[in-house]
Amino acid sequence: MIRIDKYLCDNAGLSRSEAKKAVLSSKVTINNIPVKRCEAKLLEGTDTVTLNGEPVTYEKYSYYMLNKPTGYVSANSDSKEKTVMDLLSSEKKKNLSCVGRLDKDTTGLLLITNDGELLHRLISPNKNVYKDYLVTIVKPLTDKDIKALEEGVDINDPTPTKPAKVKVIDDGNIVLSITEGRFHQVKRMLIAVGNAVVKLKRLSEGPLKLDESLSEGSYRKLTAEEIDLLKTL
Ligand code: URA
Repeated sequence: MIRIDKYLCDNAGLSRSEAKKAVLSSKVTINNIPVKRCEAKLLEGTDTVTLNGEPVTYEKYSYYMLNKPTGYVSANSDSKEKTVMDLLSSEKKKNLSCVGRLDKDTTGLLLITNDGELLHRLISPNKNVYKDYLVTIVKPLTDKDIKALEEGVDINDPTPTKPAKVKVIDDGNIVLSITEGRFHQVKRMLIAVGNAVVKLKRLSEGPLKLDESLSEGSYRKLTAEEIDLLKTL
């Protein structure tokens, strides 16, 4: 059982104060009966709820796409640093976790969810889910560098990196696609071929592409189509 104000926060995207206001102003029903008390409880997935006459359906899991800005660490909490969770309003922190970490100075697509199974599938190197990064580099790659990155490079780990894909955009920019998520992996791969990363942005995780209309620091819920795409992995 869950309180109606909490249910509205979780499933209608309202803040706690908006949810309370909606209940107190008789805009909410449970099983077609108007509720007036925020303490009223319901059974998620069984009882029906409306807000302003529209159904508010139960969402077991939440999925958000964040365009991560620089300056934030990809963690749920940190004693010193700002975390990406600080960018989500407090009502939305329902046991959410980041799907793979981005460095503090990396921008771009960060998927945040409480669906543990999907999270595991996306970050598992055995599943061969490609993550595409737009990488600004200090100097052009040679054909030899590209071949090395495509075959796998030694980054001082017990094993070389798995084969990557390289798309050269121009002398200073490439798209590097990798299936693993080792610590500072892209930066270390570029160092391994005598280059260095100037700027790094994640463009996609598997079939999920960064919505370029999201400005840095903004986020939105995934659409039903995007969730289905991820589930086909
Ligand atoms: N590789 C890196 O080096 N940094 C990131 O943030 C992501 C991949």
